[in-house]
Amino acid sequence: MNEFQGKRIVLGVTGGVAAYKAAELVRLLVKAGAAVDVVLTAAGARFVGAATFQALTGRRVWHAMWDERMEIGMAHIDLTRGASALLVAPATADFLAKLAHGLADDLLSTLCLARDCPLLVAPAMNRQMWENPATQRNVAQVRADGVSILGPAHGEQACGEVGDGRMLEATELFDDLYASLRVKSLGGKRVLLTAGPTFEALDPVRGLSNSSSGKMGFALARACVEAGAQVTMVAGPVALATPRGVNRLNVQSALQMREAVMQELPGQDVFIAVAAVADYRPRKAAAQKIKKSASSLTLELDANPDILAEVAARPDAPFCVGFAAESCDLAVYAEGKRVAKKLALVVGNLVQDGLGGETNAVTLFDAAGAHVLPLAEKSEVARGIVAHIASLMEERRGQR
Ligand code: PMT
Repeated sequence: MNEFQGKRIVLGVTGGVAAYKAAELVRLLVKAGAAVDVVLTAAGARFVGAATFQALTGRRVWHAMWDERMEIGMAHIDLTRGASALLVAPATADFLAKLAHGLADDLLSTLCLARDCPLLVAPAMNRQMWENPATQRNVAQVRADGVSILGPAHGEQACGEVGDGRMLEATELFDDLYASLRVKSLGGKRVLLTAGPTFEALDPVRGLSNSSSGKMGFALARACVEAGAQVTMVAGPVALATPRGVNRLNVQSALQMREAVMQELPGQDVFIAVAAVADYRPRKAAAQKIKKSASSLTLELDANPDILAEVAARPDAPFCVGFAAESCDLAVYAEGKRVAKKLALVVGNLVQDGLGGETNAVTLFDAAGAHVLPLAEKSEVARGIVAHIASLMEERRGQR
């Protein structure tokens, strides 16, 4: 399930220092199976030459309206016919102004007007150019015209100043473009997730936790964004970057996770509990570091609240999805948890398949039975889970 496989993307490159990132983006797209047609403006070609893009894409690079290589000389129309998207990265302040006013005085601006596919632009400019009311007016107009604006990011700029206006990184543009191509099966839905482990403090330096990396939960959060959902993720302590488009709340303990979930719950359509929540916490966390004083130490533990069970039992419960991490007898335990917690869906996985690594193999347990999603990258497995959630929700809507 790779949205880029067999697709054609038209990439417009205008005159900004960030044009070097466009070369990396092309590399990622080609690696993912896309055919990329690069259209360079005259200014763009001053930053990265056509030879670079030609070598990376294995295809001709386009510059001019009057290019005789295009049959019957209609490059400005033919290039986007059959393309999945037209992305302009970097898009300068000048190019955004052209777009806002519908100017068409070169190949790229004409393609934008005559296009037959979605248009996305990634602004890149000095922070004062970005903040200028004229640019902001143009961006608002372009957005109102249905164009997707990717970024810009905040940070250090080529001129040495710091502020808004940096173009997104190639990997971020890749992710956003990928998301734009996905079916919006959760469009308009609000999704709340938990992810990662919890950490139950024993003293200021030690605690009880587990080896959940957070990767499965983070992949699901991103897959929900790709499917068009507005996503909030309550994450235990993990060292992972926040997936693009996800609103992340960091917590440590199960009690903090519960509190954050309950606070965010009103108005959510879906709740997905991916976190490996500690079932118990030390009865009392020592204020100072516990000293070694005996050959053994007995800990008193209290049970943590079951966040998922509590959410699912509410009269206004959203569509609830649980996970079950087991070391054996997956079907028995996972289906048991689904029935006990009254869940629409439980995603079962064996810890040896899914804990910590980049891949997972899961079985989806719902009222209709078991559905296997074979071993794959967690991002792929997450997309499969999201597709299943969307179809169950659709089914439920149809029954009402
Ligand atoms: O993070 P990774 O390294 O990518 O690994 C992914 C994973 C293996 C952790 C993930 O795929 C997974 O299986 N998560 C659930 C792990 C788990 O703790 O399952 P459980 O059987 O203990 O709990 C059942 C369900 O109840 C889970 O949805 C859990 O989030 C929820 N729960 C459990 C206890 C509790 N106090 N509150 C809860 O909400």
